[in-house]
Amino acid sequence: MNITVGKQEKVGAVIHLLFVDDYHLETLADWKLSSRMGKAGQVRWIYGRQDESHHLLLGLGKKADFTLERLREAAGLAGRAVREEQVQHVGVSFASLEKGIDEQLEELVTAWVEGWQLGTYTFAKYQAKETGSQVKSINFQCEEKGSLQAAIQRGLLRAEGTMFARDLCNEPSNHLRPTMLVERIRDRFSDREVQMQVYTGEELEKRQMNGLLTVGKGSTVPPAMVQLTYCTDPTKPSIVLIGKGITFDTGGINLKTSRDLSDMRYDLGGAAAVIGAMDILTRMEIKANVTALIPTAENMPDGGAMRPGDIIQYPNGLSVQVGNTDAEGRLVLADALLHAKTLGAQEVIDAATLTGAIVRALGLRLAGVWGEESMVATLQLLGEKCGDKVWPMPLVEEYEELIRSDYADISNQSKSVNAGAITAALFLRHFVSDSYKWAHIDLAAPVESTQTKGYLVTGATGYGARLLADYVLSRV
Ligand code: BES
Ligand code: ZN
Ligand code: ZN
Repeated sequence: MNITVGKQEKVGAVIHLLFVDDYHLETLADWKLSSRMGKAGQVRWIYGRQDESHHLLLGLGKKADFTLERLREAAGLAGRAVREEQVQHVGVSFASLEKGIDEQLEELVTAWVEGWQLGTYTFAKYQAKETGSQVKSINFQCEEKGSLQAAIQRGLLRAEGTMFARDLCNEPSNHLRPTMLVERIRDRFSDREVQMQVYTGEELEKRQMNGLLTVGKGSTVPPAMVQLTYCTDPTKPSIVLIGKGITFDTGGINLKTSRDLSDMRYDLGGAAAVIGAMDILTRMEIKANVTALIPTAENMPDGGAMRPGDIIQYPNGLSVQVGNTDAEGRLVLADALLHAKTLGAQEVIDAATLTGAIVRALGLRLAGVWGEESMVATLQLLGEKCGDKVWPMPLVEEYEELIRSDYADISNQSKSVNAGAITAALFLRHFVSDSYKWAHIDLAAPVESTQTKGYLVTGATGYGARLLADYVLSRV
């Protein structure tokens, strides 16, 4: 798609943004419309005659409530509306945003492009029918000040990283088993300034990555630890991003019993977030020192699979009882948390679709975040801004006893049915090193959207790609 700046007269439709309480745009005043047109979420077409442009009026609510997230949502909505009308060339007027808004024009343009691209995303590769018309060009009807092309590019690549994360999650698990995930990563980053290492088989044994080896035992496809290093400035803080990459989670011998297990293809949502973030960062070519660690496996029941009650010995000296084979995420994350220390990490964030309990606790649109206070605060602030929202959760010391095991040091299953997301975080903390600061994000809920709304489309959301990229950007 072609995105230009500087008003072009010949467009199929012009998009106008309206506020309920700020309503003095010249063109619209001519039409004598009421400010009710600016109600938040309102989409109204005014069709032009013959070859005159149509007009799309997008309500943004009250001006004082304006945020970049609102603009992203409006852009996603507009993108789908324009596609439905089969308009190919659109103009976007930001006239109503010229006054009374804190955000810079560059930020507005980035947010618009991001929201538009994400809102018009489709995952249709397994459907025979064409998905309909595609918008060919967007024209921002404002003056190029020399910085808007960069703002557009920024929006595009943030969306592309997020959409790559969505693609990885949406991919059915027969088309994305652990070895295939490794190849998808290799392909994507082959033209980037990264080093990629993949530990499998004997390499995993040598490094005593026993969580991964244990979880992967039930599958016909072997597990792997992918390490992707992007170091363009070794003087920057060494940040390690860890993403749970379970390509499908059946639960193992503790087989899941829900009606529809197909959502468990999203169990690599943490990995997708980390890979998406790396995609954004490497394409921005920033100066940074960041490493992605992706433990990937398929959690299957089988004659060779791990059994409930099995004990895993980790190289930090801890023994873990497999209380439940469905609590596999924490077993593979433990390997990565231990490995992060050997990489000399200063800050580590792990992202994982770790527990059903976090969905109960925070609902569908928030991820939980635990860990070092300043990291948690930064993540919360950045999440508010980029839309990948997190909510701080406690590491409750009294609950430690819930993960004690009778015959190993700890168990991967809590003795209580309560606070499952917190006990999972406590489990991870046993593998965190004092040599780095750590935060844990449980994104089991926002990894998926059950509806098409704003810039979300039913299916994978790509949650976390922009948040983790923004975290790294905030530290360099
Ligand atoms: N992948 C699941 C968590 C999950 C559940 C993600 C629902 C998305 C939606 C994880 O591996 C799991 O099964 N966790 C168990 C842990 C329990 C057995 C201690 C859970 O949350 O029930
Ligand atoms: Zn599980
Ligand atoms: Zn899982």
